Amino acid sequence: MPLRLTVIGAGYLGTTHAAAMAELGFEVLAVDVDADRVEQLNLGNLPFHEPALPELLRKHTASGRLRFTTSMAEAGAFGDVHFVAVGTPQRAGEHGADMSYVDAAVAGIAEAATKHCLIVGKSTVPVGSARRLKDVVLSKSSPGINIDFAWNPEFLREGFAVEDTLRPDRLVVGTDSDSANEILRAVYADALERETPYILTDFETAELVKVAANAFLATKISFINAFSEVTETVGGDIRTLADAIGYDARIGRKFLNAGVGFGGGCLPKDIRALQARVSELGLDTTMRFLNEVDEVNLRRRDRVVYLAEQLLGSLEGKTVAILGTAFKPNSDDVRDSPALDVAGQLFNRGADVNVYDPEANANAAKRFPRLNYCDSLVSAVTGADIVLLLTEWPEFIQMDPETVGTLVEGRIVIDGRNVLDPEAWSGSGWTFCALGRRMDHVSVPVPV
Ligand code: NAD
Ligand code: UGA
Repeated sequence: MPLRLTVIGAGYLGTTHAAAMAELGFEVLAVDVDADRVEQLNLGNLPFHEPALPELLRKHTASGRLRFTTSMAEAGAFGDVHFVAVGTPQRAGEHGADMSYVDAAVAGIAEAATKHCLIVGKSTVPVGSARRLKDVVLSKSSPGINIDFAWNPEFLREGFAVEDTLRPDRLVVGTDSDSANEILRAVYADALERETPYILTDFETAELVKVAANAFLATKISFINAFSEVTETVGGDIRTLADAIGYDARIGRKFLNAGVGFGGGCLPKDIRALQARVSELGLDTTMRFLNEVDEVNLRRRDRVVYLAEQLLGSLEGKTVAILGTAFKPNSDDVRDSPALDVAGQLFNRGADVNVYDPEANANAAKRFPRLNYCDSLVSAVTGADIVLLLTEWPEFIQMDPETVGTLVEGRIVIDGRNVLDPEAWSGSGWTFCALGRRMDHVSVPVPV
């Protein structure tokens, strides 16, 4: 009989994984504690924006191959393989990861399992968690029920989640069980047929691969953003600098886009959790550089606020148009979004803040209800004293400076993602500022 899979946690990761596994031919049952979410998902309605996922969800809820439930007991009776994909957010007021959801999900499914099965962790966790949770599984499983255990971290990117899940660039599996390895090779047979690298390792390496990858990406972004602080001071063009070093294949051009920095539900919390975990292990200084990575990143947001204030003289009574609230394009995710952070800071300093994002307005409004949410680019910029591009959606990159210029009160723009053509904007009479470029009309010092 073909393997039956469950996915525990139907968020960005879990829903994508569940739908992709259904697409690969498996029968999938996904579990979430949020009953409304489960109801919507069963109707084929995706509660967040992710390209290509609505089609997959509708296809497989209709075919019957993909179902959602709130019942762990149902999942325990159904699944041969249980993937755990619940959240590991930053703990309130601390840097460490909140493991309570993973702990509850793993214990819950181990208790509920009524047949031999495999539990596979996919959430991003502090090193040492998998070994600890393996013992939890042993202690919670019913007599006579054998449960294997593995950790299989996920590397998908929001915006490309379906593609990344169906065609991953590598698979990493941490386990000490031969049968867990065999079962996962069967689950991932499609990718393995395409010779996708499959890295079989121990629990600790698997956990560390995940956080090392995110820490490296965050470091790359802050590296180029630190150079932005230099080029803003001495002159120079950060985009050219990134292109030039990126031609060196050892460095590579990806993740060297300077701007308002990284956000989202993963990079920021993962670098903080890694530092916290390594400190717990007594290695206080080992990951200290990640503190700098974090600081450089957060300084970029303050820099935008500072520039806006400098350019306007005072923010009091001024109308600011913020283009983008999602942490990146092709997403409606506003978790730790640089754009929304900047919008909130400007509001708190007295500006009237219009915001527009093609997908993320609703999520942003839940976090920052007092901003003026606009339903189009045109309404956001109309009457604005300054325009800030903070998420590089295509419709913002393609804006025509002449057309936008007829709508605004003042032709001042800050390109927070280095995606606009400086000559075209300056040529249309705009005061043009971009992060990583020297601005002669603004006093230079980085304020924080
Ligand atoms: P999310 O917050 O979108 O989803 C988590 C879901 O789990 C929520 O729907 C929540 O209701 C549910 N949940 C919580 N406790 C539960 C329980 N005990 N039983 C069943 N459901 C439960 O989170 P996410 O963005 O999908 O991230 C999940 C994990 O995957 C995190 O560790 C994250 O770091 C990692 N990750 C995320 C991505 C991504 O792009 N979002 C990529 C790779 C890895
Ligand atoms: C990131 C990783 O890229 C995924 O591999 C990983 O699985 C995921 O985290 C996770 O662990 O959840 P994601 O958060 O979807 O994926 O977004 P990224 O594409 O990595 O972008 C993160 C942030 O960095 C965004 O705010 C983006 O605007 C910013 N960024 C990215 C830059 O500022 N400059 C760049 O050059 C690239």
